[in-house]
Amino acid sequence: MEKEQRLVVITGGSRGIGRAIALRFAKENPRIVIIHYDPDETYAEETLGLLKARGVSAEAFKVDVSSFTATKELFDGLLNDYGKVDVLINNAGIIRDTFLMRMTEEDWDRVINVNLKSVFNCSRAVIRAMIRESRGWIVNISSVVATIGNPGQTNYGASKGGIISFTKSLAREVAGKGIHVNAVAPGFVLTDMTEPLPEKVKEAFLQQIPMKRPGKPEDIAGVVYWLCSEDADYITGQTIHVNGGMFMS
Ligand SMILES: NC(=O)c1ccc[n+]([C@@H]2O[C@H](COP(=O)([O-])OP(=O)(O)OC[C@H]3O[C@@H](n4cnc5c(N)ncnc54)[C@H](O)[C@@H]3O)[C@@H](O)[C@H]2O)c1
Repeated sequence: MEKEQRLVVITGGSRGIGRAIALRFAKENPRIVIIHYDPDETYAEETLGLLKARGVSAEAFKVDVSSFTATKELFDGLLNDYGKVDVLINNAGIIRDTFLMRMTEEDWDRVINVNLKSVFNCSRAVIRAMIRESRGWIVNISSVVATIGNPGQTNYGASKGGIISFTKSLAREVAGKGIHVNAVAPGFVLTDMTEPLPEKVKEAFLQQIPMKRPGKPEDIAGVVYWLCSEDADYITGQTIHVNGGMFMS
């Protein structure tokens, strides 16, 4: 499988966990497309530079994956250019944390649309092409919050729980077509998303982690890559928890 050059698309691939996933895939000499929605191109260009330094041909696009139309246009273009998408990593995500009594409709809608609707948008955009090729790998990034909950994250938790359910149903739909659909649920990982949290909150997370350390983006990337490898060929519809023991299923 690794011998044929795969086209790997990673949403939220400009930084954090998505960047680590791109760098992990780089070892197999793929073509990589990263999608991001950062205010500017700084992180995306840094990631492209890191990939190019490893000899990987990569492109970056700024597209809001919560938009069905914009996402479809981007993937239509990719399918036109490359003829296929082998691997889709649905990793883009945001938080808008606040207690339910203060949560606005906009806080709810934006998190559900960016985190969950995007998984529909991107998967919908590639699934026909994957079926045509009789192969494909989709990995959706959920969160430990989907299973243990977290005060202030009703919107985020619902979006990440939805991802787990989506993963199971799509996995059943396409398992017979050579397509693997799985989810990875990270615990507490140090990235731009978690960096702004108050020290008190970070310390409280650490107390809940039996391994006594936060996750690194690479801890997640290795498992995502493995799910897209021959070694995980008999795995579909699963959620793999990567959290230092914070939650055990
Ligand atoms: N960091 C953690 O502790 C943690 C824990 C569990 C799950 N996760 C999940 O892992 C994923 C990556 O998180 P991270 O910590 O690397 O975050 P990050 O904030 O460092 O990066 C987020 C990425 O998503 C992209 N993005 C955001 N909104 C987008 C949109 N509308 N369209 C396209 N791209 C968009 C950003 O441009 C960026 O590339 C997210 O889905 C997050 O929910 C993170």
